[in-house]
Amino acid sequence: MSTLVVVGVQWGDEGKGKIVHLLGHQADWVVRYQGGNNAGHTVIFDNKHFVLHLIPSGILQPGTQCLIGNGVVVDPEALHEEVRFLEKRNVHVRGRLHVSDAAHVILAYHRYLDCLREDRAGGGKIGTTRRGIGPAYSDKVGRNGIRIADYLNPSVFRPLLERNLREKAPLLKRFGSLSKIRRDVLKSYPALKRFLQPLVTDGPHLVYRAMEKRKKILFESAQGTMLDVDFGTYPYVTSSNPVAGGVCIGSGLAPNRLDEVLGVVKAYTTRVGEGPFPTELKDSLGEALRRRGMEYGATTGRPRRCGWFDAVAVRSAVRINGCQWLALTKLDVLEGTHPLRIAVAYRVGNKRLKEFPNDRQMQAEAEPVYEEMPGFHGSIRGMKRYAQLPANARAYVRRLEQLVGAPFAMISLGRSREETIILDSKFPWKP
Ligand code: IMP
Repeated sequence: MSTLVVVGVQWGDEGKGKIVHLLGHQADWVVRYQGGNNAGHTVIFDNKHFVLHLIPSGILQPGTQCLIGNGVVVDPEALHEEVRFLEKRNVHVRGRLHVSDAAHVILAYHRYLDCLREDRAGGGKIGTTRRGIGPAYSDKVGRNGIRIADYLNPSVFRPLLERNLREKAPLLKRFGSLSKIRRDVLKSYPALKRFLQPLVTDGPHLVYRAMEKRKKILFESAQGTMLDVDFGTYPYVTSSNPVAGGVCIGSGLAPNRLDEVLGVVKAYTTRVGEGPFPTELKDSLGEALRRRGMEYGATTGRPRRCGWFDAVAVRSAVRINGCQWLALTKLDVLEGTHPLRIAVAYRVGNKRLKEFPNDRQMQAEAEPVYEEMPGFHGSIRGMKRYAQLPANARAYVRRLEQLVGAPFAMISLGRSREETIILDSKFPWKP
């Protein structure tokens, strides 16, 4: 029996999809515990390119069962589409995908409200994915939410829907009359209800039973620690808790059953959407990283903002998640960049900060204090052993480990599973 959390320790898009795919064949279960179809996990499998939004990446491992936990917000239309996308590519989903009956649903009005808030926010917009994530989580904590179990029971669902529509009507006018919005919500309801019914389960009980049977469970986060609603750059965050602590809340796993935490971290930094990003490169180097790293959002296609590695943010994330291990991704993208810079502290006014500040004004004003290292040259893609890496690349990797306070268990040098160096560590989930 063992449990592992794979968690992003930057602003998302660290390459978690590949790492989960790499480790997933050992897992009996892969569980998503937060977020929704705002995520975009890219996996290359069987020479095919898959982008998964809501379904755990473990679905691409034929022997693995997958659970969408209670902490996820589920858009039934998006889930239906994703299942059809996978089935068309001969991925067998039925009987392997399970959805917690306590997960909340995203309905058409959540998507409308997300767009409305963004369009009205002017300079204060978050840059959300406009998938209705924030409004669905707002309803959840505001106790107006509709859970999967409610959605499947028309006599519970209909009055809840009417209450929500009445409450939100004044805001929704721009999108049409109340009856038009009701039609938008209900248009595929019978078909979606039929589709969802066989997938639905008691999530926490299922996790408990898997633990009792000594199964291996991998918990897959979406987004990253710096987008966590509590620990990220609030309010420029998503509305859930990607951190490892979110696993227990979002799946029902008992806290004392969490064994390993693997943080996934890119060799530089990216962020999509608005908000503080102290090491952002707004020059041609940022542009070059975007081009070489193909840094475009997997969900919205937006160009990602790119910048230097921020050891202040990652160190804080490693501590919050309790990462015993890290997976370093996209080291190859830094080939030929000289010198390499790493932020080791921030300067705010005349103060030097060694820890990531919670204060939003300080986050916005933080100027990175950089340490410089020589770059490395030549192609490192295809290298299989750590010792093959150029000395300067190894020095960069070792310096990152020192600065963030956790060892690397693997280094990814490309999208396919073969393009990975496995380091000699005691990490128990060896790929
Ligand atoms: P929301 O999750 O759609 O509400 O968006 C809130 C913030 O999180 C925005 O800055 C998004 O760009 C960002 N975000 C949401 N999902 C992802 C992701 O999977 N990767 C990177 N950023 C994300």
